[in-house]
Amino acid sequence: MTAADCIATEDRYEAATYARWPVVFERGEGIHLFDTAGKRYVDLYGGHCVACLGHSPQHVVAAIHRQATELPFYSNLMYHPSRARAARKLVEMADGFDRVFFCNSGTEANENAIKLAFKATGKTRMVSTVGGWHGRTLASLSVTHTWKLREPVAFALPEVDFVPFGDADALERLFVERDDIAGFILEPIQSISGMVMADAAYYRRIRQICDRHGVILIFDEIQTGVGRTGTFTFGEGVGMRPDLVTLAKSLGSGFPIGAVLMPERIAGLLKNGDLGSTFAGGMMAMAACEATLDAIADQGLMHHVAVLEEEMRKALAGSGLDVLGKGALLGVALPVAAAPVVKALFAEGWITGTSDHPNVIRLMPPYITPSGVLTEFAQVLRHHV
Ligand SMILES: Cc1ncc(COP(=O)(O)O)c(C=O)c1O
Repeated sequence: MTAADCIATEDRYEAATYARWPVVFERGEGIHLFDTAGKRYVDLYGGHCVACLGHSPQHVVAAIHRQATELPFYSNLMYHPSRARAARKLVEMADGFDRVFFCNSGTEANENAIKLAFKATGKTRMVSTVGGWHGRTLASLSVTHTWKLREPVAFALPEVDFVPFGDADALERLFVERDDIAGFILEPIQSISGMVMADAAYYRRIRQICDRHGVILIFDEIQTGVGRTGTFTFGEGVGMRPDLVTLAKSLGSGFPIGAVLMPERIAGLLKNGDLGSTFAGGMMAMAACEATLDAIADQGLMHHVAVLEEEMRKALAGSGLDVLGKGALLGVALPVAAAPVVKALFAEGWITGTSDHPNVIRLMPPYITPSGVLTEFAQVLRHHV
């Protein structure tokens, strides 16, 4: 199929809900993507924060292939060694959590975490942050701040309070005013909003505030988790632990998967049938998950993402361009509109992303990005601003 045929066919047969770029990628290898004309791109967007090991990582491809030939799928009602190994590995890598519930996507992980907050407290209301983004299914959408997404289905969404990000006092005031709050969900680095991050003290304070008021603290680590910010979870890096952590994106190196990490005291409240999904914990996803986690641990990639951040900061020091975010979840605040810059970079073979902030470009590079690539990118970027 030619690129033109591919574009015309997708445009004709799929529901038109994505603003797609006019490119057809045929192949990926490491940090590179190749379009149908053979042009090579450096992927600093990581397939939307997913390709933590780059494209077609050998170890993961082999694990998926092996699993596909042995047993691609069977129900959650039976045990399977791939699921056993992935669950153990994930819980062991996530500091201080006892159990995991597997699901299929980020929004589904948040849906389940919200259900758990209701169950654990017997209360009925959620709190989120201004700028928070948590997914498109109804419970996750209810805690997503973007009004243009919520408005068309607002009638179907439970009412939620949104507090300013980084303002622990506002959160505590709300907890004092209301006694029906079950949970507070936070994206510890608001990526889509433009890599908005607070001081470490904020995260520790909200932990204390949630404890004082019996509110379940959920960290949506769908972007920050799985080692992307230098520790397996973001919470670990700032010296605190939420009650629940949701993961997806990088967890399967591109194979669809989501997860909710929880302590025994919450897991112990669950009984058969409380949470579930046909495809959750499927063998292919579990094989991809285990192989991904193995690679992150064995290749020291959580250390390497810190090196990448350092490199980017050094390369832009003194340029007047602020580097935002942490590890391999970075933003650059530009003095000009970001969208035309992202487009120009793309034409030169660099894939980056915009955000809801008009001046911030986003970088979610594979953890395996070799040293030197971001320095080269920073030089190119400086020419565009
Ligand atoms: C922080 C955050 N939470 C939740 C989601 C939803 O994940 P998914 O698209 O897998 O449903 C996303 C997706 O971009 C996200 O960035």
